[in-house]
Amino acid sequence: MALKDFFIYLSENRILNSAAQRYGLRLGAQSVVAGVSIEETVKSIKELNKQNISCTVDNLGEFVYEKSEAIEAKNKILEVIQVIHDENLDAHISLKPSQLGLDIEYEFCKENLKEIVALAHQYNIFVNFDMEDYARLHSSFELLEELNKEFDNIGTVIQAYFFESEELIEKYKDFRLRIVKGAYKEPENVAYQTKSEIDKNYIKLIEYHLLNGKFTSIATHDHRVINHVKAFVKKHNIPNEKFEFQMLYGFRKEMQYDLAKEGFNFCTYLPFGKDWYGYFMRRLAERPQNLSLVTKQVFNK
Ligand code: FDA
Repeated sequence: MALKDFFIYLSENRILNSAAQRYGLRLGAQSVVAGVSIEETVKSIKELNKQNISCTVDNLGEFVYEKSEAIEAKNKILEVIQVIHDENLDAHISLKPSQLGLDIEYEFCKENLKEIVALAHQYNIFVNFDMEDYARLHSSFELLEELNKEFDNIGTVIQAYFFESEELIEKYKDFRLRIVKGAYKEPENVAYQTKSEIDKNYIKLIEYHLLNGKFTSIATHDHRVINHVKAFVKKHNIPNEKFEFQMLYGFRKEMQYDLAKEGFNFCTYLPFGKDWYGYFMRRLAERPQNLSLVTKQVFNK
């Protein structure tokens, strides 16, 4: 089994996930997860805001099969929205429909999302629907469409590894979209498998949305893509208000600060919460060098 597959396998292991919840942030996860509590997370947001960096806040959560767990997640997200408003933070929300009950019952999930989006709308806070694996792709877009009938403060993610991403980006061009390469292991019949194919499609999608879309979040740690985008926006006179760069909390920190200092809009994806295990394992799968985060944490005690 390749190292990537091994970490994806670990990320999907429910028993390890619940074992990890019993402990605080471990295995180096504290480098890439902003905190367990909302208070710790607010501190991290304020630090980043001081650097002119906005945040998209994700209450971590996976393997939600009980309605009570989805309701608990919803309440936590509502609490975060209230704090963002009360403390006047430069931040918005990222959430995963599965955490709000998509795998339990579509209508139940929709009602949970609606409550979140409505409160955020009241405070003029944006809510991003993160995209998960292919099995949830179409139902997630359906939720977006249904909620968009009432609310305009929502957007989502386009994953460049899917063959149908081009079709999706055209269809949803009037939304604020985050464009990513894609983090899950997907079968050959739905997704590109090689890095070069994914990278090529990634650039194509970014260019399309920069030229035709509402607002583009370019979410990558790939300096080649970032440099390409910088040249592309200059060439096409695309104003800063039309796009931002995004990276995950704890990754390429210097580059995050530098991009903000250069005057680009920059947004850090800030995951928090007790359910850090699956998120952390997926980051190890993407880049096994991230294991150095683990060793540093273990040996620097
Ligand atoms: P990739 O991993 O392809 O790396 C390309 C090159 O960049 C590397 O070869 C290396 O040279 C350099 N590099 C990358 N990371 C580095 C590091 N830490 N230090 C030094 N050099 C580095 N996925 C998904 O399916 N659904 C979603 O909703 C989201 N949401 C999301 C939000 C945000 C803000 C980000 C940044 C990413 C996501 N993703 C995601 C994850 C995304 O799909 C993808 O898996 C990861 O970002 C990894 O791909 P990259 O584009 O970062 O570079």
